[in-house]
Amino acid sequence: MSDLETPDQEIPARKMPARKIPDVSSSIDLTTSLGSLQLQAPTATASGCAAAGRELAQFGDVRTLGAVVTKSIMKNPRSGRPTPRMAETPSGMLNSIGLQGPGIEAFLEKDLSWLTENGVTTIVSIAGNNVDEFGELANRLKDVPGIAALEVNISCPNVESRGQVFACNPFSAASVIETVRREWTSSAPILAKLSPDVTDIVEIAQSVVEAGVDGVSMINTLLGMVIDLDRMKPMLGGRTGGLSGPAIRPVAVRAVYQVHAALPQLPILGMGGIRTGHDALEFIAAGASAVSIGTVVFGDPGAPWRIADELGAELAKRGFTKLTDAIGAAHER
Ligand code: FUM
Repeated sequence: MSDLETPDQEIPARKMPARKIPDVSSSIDLTTSLGSLQLQAPTATASGCAAAGRELAQFGDVRTLGAVVTKSIMKNPRSGRPTPRMAETPSGMLNSIGLQGPGIEAFLEKDLSWLTENGVTTIVSIAGNNVDEFGELANRLKDVPGIAALEVNISCPNVESRGQVFACNPFSAASVIETVRREWTSSAPILAKLSPDVTDIVEIAQSVVEAGVDGVSMINTLLGMVIDLDRMKPMLGGRTGGLSGPAIRPVAVRAVYQVHAALPQLPILGMGGIRTGHDALEFIAAGASAVSIGTVVFGDPGAPWRIADELGAELAKRGFTKLTDAIGAAHER
């Protein structure tokens, strides 16, 4: 297999299991929204952790997830960074995939078509090498049916230059979003994915709001490094990588809390090390309207469904009957 091929393309779509009705949380209303996008469940996949959803169909009914957020897609096929690309860390994982993917046309033909045919709520994540590429992607996707929202990944740490981590600078972040907003004539919401590797994440959130986003996804991974002491070299081929998993959860919860405090009307899709419904409820209480489930999926592919059930139980334990009543509950009111 060449490194431009993605391994999931040949997996035939399995017949989806019968629609899954959560039992523990059945008395709790878990529906929520991200701007104009209504979600039937509060858990989505996190971009990059479940490809384009097809592989997850072996483990549950993908239609019952809040959404599948696809791996960030670029204009052209991309081989990504040199191997090794993953390293385990205490309570976390470091990756330097480097936005490997088949390019927008193959994605539309093989991945989005499957998601649309199967009625999956799909949030398409896009990434560009520069501002113009983000605009071209938004333009290419604007009339494509089956896109529930666009997630604009301005925060991938695994790029050649830190200048391409647009979310680390309020002006660069705004410039990408203004361009996407101009091209994106669809009514589906635009979410900007933010980086925690900044001094003031509220400043970045404000800049993308002014540039026209409908919500934010937060957080992307933190830039990290592991040294292989046998070789006395960085472990990852790309040297640095993005840290995810439970190790980053307090950082993510803090970021969601800060942005919700400053911009209480802004819909937030929260993520960063969520493993349980208890973890998910921390994000909701901090101000997220829904959550994305990422690293845990590699070891427990059923986690997005399990965590929705557990979240219902956690809400019930605390006397909530609706998830939306718990959004931002940790803030002074
Ligand atoms: O390297 C990667 O493909 C990761 C992307 C991201 O974290 O946004």
